[in-house]
Amino acid sequence: MHHSHCIEEMNKPARGSLLGIEHLDGGEILGLLKLARRMNPMKPRPLLRGKRVLLLFYEPSTRTRSSFEIAAKSMAAMTTLVLSSGSSIEKGESLLDTAYTLRALGADLIVVRHPLAGAPALMARHLDIPVVNAGDGMHEHPSQALLDAYTILRHKKTLKGLQVAIVGDVYHSRVARSAIHLSAKVGARVTLCGPPELLPEVATTLAPGLHITRTAEDAVRGADVIMVLRVQKERLAGVKISLQNYTERYQVTMSRVKLAKRDAMVMHPGPIIRGLELTSEVADCPQSVIVEEVRNGVSMRMAILSKALGRAR
Ligand code: NCD
Repeated sequence: MHHSHCIEEMNKPARGSLLGIEHLDGGEILGLLKLARRMNPMKPRPLLRGKRVLLLFYEPSTRTRSSFEIAAKSMAAMTTLVLSSGSSIEKGESLLDTAYTLRALGADLIVVRHPLAGAPALMARHLDIPVVNAGDGMHEHPSQALLDAYTILRHKKTLKGLQVAIVGDVYHSRVARSAIHLSAKVGARVTLCGPPELLPEVATTLAPGLHITRTAEDAVRGADVIMVLRVQKERLAGVKISLQNYTERYQVTMSRVKLAKRDAMVMHPGPIIRGLELTSEVADCPQSVIVEEVRNGVSMRMAILSKALGRAR
């Protein structure tokens, strides 16, 4: 394949790519959410028969990786998993050379998770097949934001006007960034909460109408949705926080959940660390939809993959 003769085309991400929520509009988001309602992994549909879906993971993953794989297989696609450890990436192959290799193997779509923000976009600008971002550094995690919105819509009539509290390590969270963009586009109101080290003031500039509170009580009071985030120790690099102080002030506990609306939903993208960002009791309480998020993720990713490949029905 030649990747040097047409600069202009190279600079546009390949058609069908899903790189983030920031550049989608409300209509596109609602369209994907609607499409997901028609998808059920228990009722496989061969929408992607003959398609090869490559899963390229440069970071650990349990849910996202298996969810994309099960989604693709539920639509009769062929899947191949490439992990950075154990592959030629360890030998120093560059991201783009790996991408060209996967394309040469016959990939029709690449799902990629990478520790660097912008890695999926770079691939999408150099390939002629869609690239789906499965999480890039501290940037975006669009499929997670979509599956969370889908999960909320299974419990609430509309996203518009909902009060969403996002509590935890917002700064390091691509889940939060995508959820913030999605909320702004569909008219949900977001309150961010966390210690200054994990939630700098500048976070409010991400989207219009955002605000910050420094107490968990203020954040969750009257909320329809409490979205809890993991403290991402692997991204702390130099940031010193006292975990004891963190749990005292920001841990989502039953008494804090009680300040939210009676029918409030407790969400978490996983993996959860019981006893740190939330108590075990909260994780397992009737209002917790943490397991349901995982289940819904498969339908949502079926919608994402079929849309990306132009096979959405
Ligand atoms: C998250 C991620 O990797 O961004 N997990 C996920 O994909 N469900 C959040 C996290 O690791 O805390």
